[in-house]
Amino acid sequence: MNVQNSIGKLKIEKRAYINGKYVNAIGGEVIEKISPIDGTDLSGIVSCKKEDINLAVKAAKEAFESGVWSRSTHTYRKEVLLCLASLMEEKREILALLDTYETGRAYKNYYEDSIPKAIEALRYFAESIDKYYDMAVPADNTEFGIIKKVPLGVVGLIIPWNDPMVVAAWKYGPALAMGNSVVLKPAEQSSLSAIYLAGLTKEAGIPDGVFNVVPGYGEIAGKELALHKDVRGIFFTGSSEVGKKIMTYAGKSNMKKVGLECGGKGPYIITDSCSNIKESAKVLADNMFYNQGQICSAPSKVIVAERKYDEFLNALKVECERYVPGDPFDDCNNVGCVVSREQYNKVKGYIDEGFKSGAEIYQAKNVKKHHKNACCIQPTIISCIDEKNRLVTEEIFGPVVVVLKAKDTYDAVRIANDSNYGLAGAVWTDDLNEAFYVANSVETGLFHINSYGNDDNRAPFGGVKESGLGKDKSIYAFDEYSDLKSIWVHIRR
Ligand code: NAI
Ligand code: MG
Repeated sequence: MNVQNSIGKLKIEKRAYINGKYVNAIGGEVIEKISPIDGTDLSGIVSCKKEDINLAVKAAKEAFESGVWSRSTHTYRKEVLLCLASLMEEKREILALLDTYETGRAYKNYYEDSIPKAIEALRYFAESIDKYYDMAVPADNTEFGIIKKVPLGVVGLIIPWNDPMVVAAWKYGPALAMGNSVVLKPAEQSSLSAIYLAGLTKEAGIPDGVFNVVPGYGEIAGKELALHKDVRGIFFTGSSEVGKKIMTYAGKSNMKKVGLECGGKGPYIITDSCSNIKESAKVLADNMFYNQGQICSAPSKVIVAERKYDEFLNALKVECERYVPGDPFDDCNNVGCVVSREQYNKVKGYIDEGFKSGAEIYQAKNVKKHHKNACCIQPTIISCIDEKNRLVTEEIFGPVVVVLKAKDTYDAVRIANDSNYGLAGAVWTDDLNEAFYVANSVETGLFHINSYGNDDNRAPFGGVKESGLGKDKSIYAFDEYSDLKSIWVHIRR
């Protein structure tokens, strides 16, 4: 298939979706941006402001209060969401095209991996909702209580650009299944798939006002949504810096519930007893470099036992050649570009700092520059660097991995925990006791033993420390999008 020709044939919707209709922003402004693939101008998606957010929240609130969705049966909501998943499957090519066009990630990767994962996640939530029980408190003969989960009302979802459809599904899936109304603000770098999805929600039978999409800038549209008094929960994925702001917006407005997934610096530990160094390097490359490293749970801080260090580093140098970036529209390529010139400059800045610091730096040799304006960065391995260096402590969000040496397994755990982040991590070892010692000691929300990134929808996903609070995925996600309500009953006789 010629992917570039296909995008030319699409009639691309660039408006907001409010109360069941595509509409322009009241102020008439648009988001301005440049393609990371070839530098062409991609401006034109509507930029929502306070008045547009107010309209979307009003529609969502009215829909919630009407009960058309919020008080419908679980089976009904399940069927509609399953229908939405099927429509996404039918339109998988378009969703993948739109995301590639805006973000520069490889089409092949969206089509084969990301979009199917979003569909699978939505199906998981749809299938789970009618298997969920409330609880009863059998106090004694005259007293008993019912503890039920109730939807929050209007929830705001603020989505990043690094995996637009997956992160959105992790949030609107459980939110809608629980009966909430949703106002979704996609990232300014990746709004088209969410706008397109809105049309599919209508086709699937989600009532007007229950699902709204308000594209726009974070500091304008996102902030207004998080500050809105009628929004009862705000769920965000993005930087820790903005995550902290979201908490203050909730405090400044109505103490709305907050869920935050703010990325990390995933520790990936190879112990002395690991006999499978080649496999550990392969799995690292697979999870570190596939989206130019723009992955919140990327295992970007590798900690290797002294005795295995050279062997591992050499194996990783070979593996990273499989992830050389190129033209994202070429469906032979599994890696495309970095999302924007801004992100490109940020990542390049870190690499330049690495060179200046005297660290050892290895970059993949294979080069496939397809356009002079393409924002592509070679997989980069940084070693012989001080543990306190900013490249070791900060989230780079690019194809850059640091490799450190540990004296022993205790030292490896110490290095892993010397971090503001705590999203995901891993240990590679042949010793079961050691595996559990490390898994129990490293402070992350998710931990892998002799693997990485293969946890499915049943595993909660979310971090500790500055990686955020609350969980995406699994049946525990329903807790995020609901409150517990106790109904206490006294029986007179
Ligand atoms: P960001 O945190 O600024 O943006 C994420 C989302 O938040 C976008 O929808 C954006 O419009 C919105 N936003 C931004 N400022 C806001 C505000 N004041 N109020 C409400 N919403 C706001 O991330 P950005 O600038 O795109 O990337 C910067 C860094 O953040 C990356 O280099 C990476 O380290 C991290 N990041 C982490 C992600 C993750 O998956 N945890 C995803 C995206 C970025
Ligand atoms: Mg930002």
